[in-house]
Amino acid sequence: MDPVRNPYAPGAGQRPPELAGRDRELQQFEVVLERVARGRPERSMVVTGLRGVGKTVLLNTFKSMAMQRLWGTGKIEARPDQSIRRPVAAALHMAVRELAPRHRAPERIEDFLGVLKAFAMRDPAAAKGTSHWSPGIEVPASRGRADSGDLEIDLTELFVDAASVATDLGVGIALFIDEMQDVPAADVSALCAACHELSQSGGPLIVVGAGLPHLPSVLSASKSYSERLFRYARIDRLDREAADLALILPAREEDVEFTQDALDALYEAADGYPYFVQAYGKVAWDLAPRSPITVEDVRVSAPEAEEELAVGFFGSRYERATPAERDYMHAMAQIGDEPVATAEVADALGRKPSSLSPARDSLIKKGLIYSAERGLIAFTVPHFGRFLRAQPI
Ligand SMILES: Nc1ncnc2c1ncn2[C@@H]1O[C@H](COP(=O)(O)OP(=O)(O)OP(=O)(O)O)[C@@H](O)[C@H]1O
Ligand SMILES: [Mg+2]
Repeated sequence: MDPVRNPYAPGAGQRPPELAGRDRELQQFEVVLERVARGRPERSMVVTGLRGVGKTVLLNTFKSMAMQRLWGTGKIEARPDQSIRRPVAAALHMAVRELAPRHRAPERIEDFLGVLKAFAMRDPAAAKGTSHWSPGIEVPASRGRADSGDLEIDLTELFVDAASVATDLGVGIALFIDEMQDVPAADVSALCAACHELSQSGGPLIVVGAGLPHLPSVLSASKSYSERLFRYARIDRLDREAADLALILPAREEDVEFTQDALDALYEAADGYPYFVQAYGKVAWDLAPRSPITVEDVRVSAPEAEEELAVGFFGSRYERATPAERDYMHAMAQIGDEPVATAEVADALGRKPSSLSPARDSLIKKGLIYSAERGLIAFTVPHFGRFLRAQPI
């Protein structure tokens, strides 16, 4: 069928034509926004899940919800080994720019921007003169606030000031952090402390995160009270009903239907994983000669969908691993699809567990595996074991 009208959208962060099966999370976030706006004590949300389950897309939807309420919003994507100071500064700059036109007292905005600039300029890289932050803030940097160099103190002061600008307008500010498990440990701790301070003062600023399944343990390792700061929403594959809706509703817009057994076959292939739903749906649409899309169309198109996933979804991640890391993952895959004991992987490779720690740690850092619980590891990418087993070693 006409590829131009193809509604499906496989791809990182690609907005799906239908955001299926996430009603509970959307409702929860609605409540968070409402309570924070009213100055009620409220935990913020952190979305966790495997690769491709739709964390980024959900975070972006949350952002739109906040914007609809006229909140100021900003978003960062954390990177390992990169301090969050500058990205946070840039994101809050965006958030306050959204609010500024409605603010009656321009000098309040200017004061805040002065503090923001001072905060950003305390970046260690900037101090060494190796780079200059030019965020287009025209006002001079202020002194004595959010510029101590201690990220915990500075973030707290910056958040309090940003929240107070939002309070003037009767709205809030939401800072979104994607790939939150990559925030460096020292910064996680500072961030939690700042959120903790803010939750006590009732300031309307929230930090909303998304990350891999081990994110809650990253946060609680840094601050024991993190469970009281964040409500964790673990998102997973879609159930049958939601996966069907993700396919059917966008097609209906284009007057295209699926036969029941086509939907059966698609669910079996995609296993409810949102990325796979989009990938199989897309190819089935392109190769089907006409509506309705049949089980035969799905069968014919599956190899092409798999080929695209092998390159775009699995292969791109596999390529990030070094040969030693690949051996490690192949050993994991041979053992099975459940979380496996690190000791068992060492056994399979005929090595001492300690000698494999570097490979394991760097795979965790690259976001390819995570520690499901003490001593156990699992792939962050759904069906990765199956992909590896089909791969020549
Ligand atoms: N609720 C949903 N219904 C249908 N499709 C969805 C849904 N959520 C996500 N998708 C689709 O799944 C794909 C992956 O989404 P997204 O990039 O948000 O996942 P992710 O969890 O952030 O993955 P990663 O961990 O790799 O960053 C996209 O193509 C998106 O359109
Ligand atoms: Mg993502």
